[in-house]
Amino acid sequence: MLGAPKLKPEIDAPAAPSVAATAVSIRNVDVRFGDGVNEVTALSGISVDIPEGAFVTMLGPSGCGKSTLLRCVADLIDVSEGSVTVFGRTPSQARQNRDFAFVFQDATLLPWRTVLENVSLPLEVGKHARTGDYADPRALLQMVGLAGRENALPHELSGGMRQRVAIARALVTRPRILLMDEPFGALDEITRDRLNEELLRVWQETGTTILFVTHSIPEAAFLGQHVLMLQAHPGRMKEFMKVDLPFPRSLAVRDTVEFIRVTAHLRKLLEECL
Ligand SMILES: Nc1ncnc2c1ncn2[C@@H]1O[C@H](COP(=O)(O)OP(=O)(O)OP(=O)(O)O)[C@@H](O)[C@H]1O
Ligand SMILES: [Mg+2]
Repeated sequence: MLGAPKLKPEIDAPAAPSVAATAVSIRNVDVRFGDGVNEVTALSGISVDIPEGAFVTMLGPSGCGKSTLLRCVADLIDVSEGSVTVFGRTPSQARQNRDFAFVFQDATLLPWRTVLENVSLPLEVGKHARTGDYADPRALLQMVGLAGRENALPHELSGGMRQRVAIARALVTRPRILLMDEPFGALDEITRDRLNEELLRVWQETGTTILFVTHSIPEAAFLGQHVLMLQAHPGRMKEFMKVDLPFPRSLAVRDTVEFIRVTAHLRKLLEECL
């Protein structure tokens, strides 16, 4: 039997999921690439704890190491110094345990498979289909607003729809952490706004911890419970800032004085990072 994701009918869900254990612990992390005169220090002395169930957005100038940090958590890059743990395990153990899923800027769907087949793809490898510990792909497609498009092929969808498929695919194994690297960067503003609202809803419905990289100050402020700001050369932590805006959030929050105050502060910090 398919395991359905927890679905709630309305957006007026309770406030943010309760924050308990630490999902990701980053301790004194340095990452260096190359050696000798070609050595680049991408990250230096990064320490931060991401609470379980949190939505953390990451901002910073190009080249400050946002993707590198996400890749350290995802076990795609080894740290040079320090440590990263994911629910108390090494990133490699967490990967084997399928604790996290990655969503990139480009949806990277298989063009010859339908929407439903793309979402089901992660179930064809690993233990999930065997153990029944996965979310119902059809229910996930409904959750991201794609009910009725199950049999469409990727080329028949808009960019925003393809990204929704990628999000559904990432959620099908019920990951405890969603790592998102500028997932909406290539979309027009209206589509991006819509997907921002949808992502918040999905977060509230699933309780997944989300680490989300963006170049957009309003996006970082709208989505994040916290904003992790990095500065460049080398990539260091500028601030880990709590965003004091209540949940659930709708796009209208962006017209409030509180929101404008948050974005003004982030802009000032970002200017200091350049
Ligand atoms: N595989 C690699 N080999 C060598 N240098 C790398 C590698 N990956 C990243 N770097 C360097 O590490 C630094 C951080 O890169 P990273 O891609 O993490 O930045 P970013 O903050 O994600 O930038 P952007 O906002 O442009 O995506 C940059 O100086 C980059 O050139
Ligand atoms: Mg990047």
